[in-house]
Amino acid sequence: HPQLTSDVQCGLMLEGVPLSAIADEVGTPCWVMSAGTLRVRAQRLLGAMTQAGLSVAPHFAVKANDHVAVLRILSETGFGADVVSGGELRRARNAGIPASRIVFSGVGKTDAELRLALAEGIAQVNVESAEELEILSALASACNREMTVLLRVNPDVDAGTHAKITTGVAENKFGVPYDEALALYRRASELPGLRPAGYAMHIGSQILSAKPFREAYARLATLVKATRAAGYPVSALDCGGGLGICYRDEGEGSPDAWAGAIRAELGGLDVRLAIEPGRWIAAPAGVLLSTVVLRKVVTGGVPFIILDAAMNDLLRPSLYDAWHGIVPLSPRDAVADVETVAVVGPVCESGDTFAPARVLPRLERGARVAVLDTGAYGAVMSSTYNSRTLAAQVLVDGERWSVIRPRQNVETLWADEVVPEWIKQTA
Ligand code: LLP
Repeated sequence: HPQLTSDVQCGLMLEGVPLSAIADEVGTPCWVMSAGTLRVRAQRLLGAMTQAGLSVAPHFAVKANDHVAVLRILSETGFGADVVSGGELRRARNAGIPASRIVFSGVGKTDAELRLALAEGIAQVNVESAEELEILSALASACNREMTVLLRVNPDVDAGTHAKITTGVAENKFGVPYDEALALYRRASELPGLRPAGYAMHIGSQILSAKPFREAYARLATLVKATRAAGYPVSALDCGGGLGICYRDEGEGSPDAWAGAIRAELGGLDVRLAIEPGRWIAAPAGVLLSTVVLRKVVTGGVPFIILDAAMNDLLRPSLYDAWHGIVPLSPRDAVADVETVAVVGPVCESGDTFAPARVLPRLERGARVAVLDTGAYGAVMSSTYNSRTLAAQVLVDGERWSVIRPRQNVETLWADEVVPEWIKQTA
């Protein structure tokens, strides 16, 4: 983490800002994003594609981090947006991303969402089923518009990642079966309102080796050749996202190896190429700051370090057993001796555990920690379970920092709730 440094005096710093200063002023739990890291990683990814001699249209997977400021920073580095809902589409437009740089993925787009895509005139819809193809054609015809369509193919390649984030094996709900893709492409070219341009693919997330990418792209290339041989033009391919990061000691997915896989398998096909990365860019750009509520000692077990952050803030450890680094914010927050502890949140679920057994410097009540690599699939997956308000969000850029989302006010949790008159009357 080149932008995350440890200073003897200031403790943990993100770019030029001591994280303890942010925790003092904003309180915890609090998400902090580094604008510099977002820019560096976005450019690193683009650089790898250019180095490989590829011209690739980049779309940031908005689901990874949908904050308007994040989208704006990435759009300035040249990224468009890969959206999966009408909400994300409107957000991306609101962040200033032109419709011509927005692609729409997802297995269950509603009619209203498809109409929005048509009205906005976005770049392309990645269609995931025969049914969606017919629906989109009818909706486009009804409003006298045409939509560029890429068929999302399920290549049946195992990305070798966690079962809950694998998307490209046959039993997953995503994409159309590989063997049916050509017939469906033919159908798309007969339907009014559609401009079939090629194929899309996304095999999963947190992929660390180039091998599954290569396998999937090889299958894609075969499909392109078969499609052209059948007399249908193919002008575009969307290579998806999925490049992984190093959370612990697994090593980081290499943008160069990814670019190499794209070039090796798809480089000679004379098509417009696109990618949809999320995690690789945003995850290492963010940390979650939290305070130790108390250190609970039990006989016959490891001590519990109970944080003021919980699974409603960061769900990944509970949902995927994900490992995130946890480090004290300042040298003051940790005395020298280390111990094995269970780091947990205060929510009423045993699953509300950040780390079941972690070796950490002894953390007393009031000590503050940063949970690392939480810039992707962090704040976006938060809920208000247990009537816990959404945590504050901060953006750091060099020496500057600002609150980019104030901590949610507790009253807003029930502000829209209505008690019917007839309930009041019975009372
Ligand atoms: N494109 C499509 C069609 C996707 O479904 C996804 C992620 C991406 C791109 C971006 O993938 P990335 O580059 O971020 O790996 N919540 C999970 C991750 C779910 C990913 C879903 N799809 C987690 O926290 O690990």
